[in-house]
Amino acid sequence: MPKLPTIVFSKRFQAKQGTLAVFMAENGELPNSLQDVEGYERVAEAVDIATFKGAAGSHVSVVAPGGGLDRIVVLGIGKPDEADEEAWLKVGGKLLISAEKSSDVTVVTDLSDGVLLNAGQLAAIAAGARLRAYDFDNYKTRKKANNNNDEGNGDISKITFVTEDESAAKKAWKSMDGIADGIMFARDLVNEPANILGPIEFAERAAGLEKLGCKITILDEKKLKSEKMGALLGVAQGSSRPARVAIMEWHGGKEKQKPVAFVGKGVVFDTGGISIKPAGGMEDMKGDMGGAAAVCGVMHALAARKAKVNAVGIVGLVENMPDGNAQRPGDIVTSRSGQTIEIINTDAEGRLVLADLLDYCEQKFKPQFMVNLATLTGAVIIALGKTHAGLFSNDDELANRLFKAGEDTKELLWRLPLHKDYDKLIDSKFADMKNTGGRNAGSITAAQFLQRFVKDTPWAHLDVAGMAMASTKTDYSKGWASGFGVRLLNRLVANDYE
Ligand code: BES
Ligand code: MN
Ligand code: ZN
Repeated sequence: MPKLPTIVFSKRFQAKQGTLAVFMAENGELPNSLQDVEGYERVAEAVDIATFKGAAGSHVSVVAPGGGLDRIVVLGIGKPDEADEEAWLKVGGKLLISAEKSSDVTVVTDLSDGVLLNAGQLAAIAAGARLRAYDFDNYKTRKKANNNNDEGNGDISKITFVTEDESAAKKAWKSMDGIADGIMFARDLVNEPANILGPIEFAERAAGLEKLGCKITILDEKKLKSEKMGALLGVAQGSSRPARVAIMEWHGGKEKQKPVAFVGKGVVFDTGGISIKPAGGMEDMKGDMGGAAAVCGVMHALAARKAKVNAVGIVGLVENMPDGNAQRPGDIVTSRSGQTIEIINTDAEGRLVLADLLDYCEQKFKPQFMVNLATLTGAVIIALGKTHAGLFSNDDELANRLFKAGEDTKELLWRLPLHKDYDKLIDSKFADMKNTGGRNAGSITAAQFLQRFVKDTPWAHLDVAGMAMASTKTDYSKGWASGFGVRLLNRLVANDYE
């Protein structure tokens, strides 16, 4: 991992080296505080010549402006009144990129005419910079040669935000830093190759949340058998590495408050099993635990910022492999709920894992609601691409709250239907249901399958196949593992349950 920049807030303005960054609102002016800095005139001139207007995402930089600085960067922030959290994350990412090879960055946080950015905005900018600095380069032994500095590859060791309200900024950062760490925790899990991160190793990393005050329970194979999780165990039986279920509890709310529950698909690698996948692109299936990673990430975030809520995260960790002991198409397994499932396609494994987890979660924890996250279907990528995750729910209120949290964070969701006519497509001749419903409406029949394992708890299923892995690059992510879902669920809790 590259060294992530340390974030400092200070009242004192002192920039004698490295990069000095200032902000300009759209059609605004350079901040007054810049006027005393050596090189101010050259910056003003550069802004003029470049016809720089402060549009979000744009910047101007002047190299060697004098006074010992490497450069002065003016970052456009668009219209600050209209900017949401994600807009500030983007500003932070641009800040990191534009500072290039400087080791120290000083950020002036007042705009022209004495307008100040608030503590929450500064914290989001800082988070965006760290998230953009994140790079999964653990396995690159020739770092210097391989790294491309346009990407913002960890040359920056410190970012100092100059702000009058130092203590408010520090407080906001403490909480935002926990969220950013949760996102990077999720990204690490998704990026890690499956030879390194099997079910046991994943469970160990989840257990690391104990140090933040979470209660951890790991269910091993014996326990999973005694819990009668036949659907989950059927998926795991083709792998030489045994299954695990990890349960993370955060008790930050009132004693009697029912927990909110997050459930994640954690297939550490999905070959498809006996219904094996084609070779092309199969390496991406190391990310088939993106749902579980997001659950770990949000539990990290809630615990790190000491959220005033009771929350439980449950992840089902298996590897879907073909071998002499693997389950076959035509096999019938008995789920924990007692319902039987005819396996039509062993590559529809995620729903089998989640079926037992949802049933377990509802019965053991009696949560206020359950949200499961899963890289469940290729079909959701066909439907929604890499912009929205699919949202399915048995409860309009929960669906609306999730949708709103998506709008707030720009981790966008789009609701797709559940309906009894789709449910019929998974009726089986030989068992209570089959695990696939044919080519049509593939994401919906998968959701109908999950719904059969939920009794009367408000429940939502997020199909994050297009969002959690192989994701597109943004200003605050170099791409592939995004950590999708962590900010979303953290926001859901913050909006409605704290
Ligand atoms: N893990 C895959 C879904 C997936 C595909 C995630 C592409 C990310 C990118 C899932 O287990 C799967 O294989 N689903 C099948 C279901 C089918 C057999 C009914 C699919 O989508 O093709
Ligand atoms: Mn599969
Ligand atoms: Zn899968």
